[in-house]
Amino acid sequence: MKISIINGPNLNLLGTREPEVYGNQNFEAYFEQLSAQYPDLTLSYYQSNVEGELINELHRVGFESDGIILNAAAYTHTSVGLGDAVKAIQAPVVEVHISNTFSREDFRHTSYITPNAKGLILGFGLDVYRLAIDSFLPS
Ligand code: DQA
Repeated sequence: MKISIINGPNLNLLGTREPEVYGNQNFEAYFEQLSAQYPDLTLSYYQSNVEGELINELHRVGFESDGIILNAAAYTHTSVGLGDAVKAIQAPVVEVHISNTFSREDFRHTSYITPNAKGLILGFGLDVYRLAIDSFLPS
């Protein structure tokens, strides 16, 4: 089973960015641990700070992955284009957020991703990525 993780803007700074909100671990180190936990899965990881590149990546993996885990970060709350891309591809998308966006500023309560996502997992720190993987596995 092939699962693709796509992270949006500023998530390349995990570990140093607002650690009180996003924790102390950088994503590369977390991704290594995660991959070791799921040796039977083909996990890939892509990050960009550029909206169009995220859309291109959704198009690229969206027809060859069994599932996509998308943290569109700030573009979640602004990007019609990313929302449309989630709708346009074949693979189911689970939207994740490290923080509980609903306990934060009002502008973070809107998502252009959720209406076209399979589901939404948020607020459990980096563990949201593991929970999203589990949501794709047969129970
Ligand atoms: C985030 C929440 C967004 O509101 C924010 O812009 C981010 C990260 C999260 O993972 O909690 O950059 O997606």
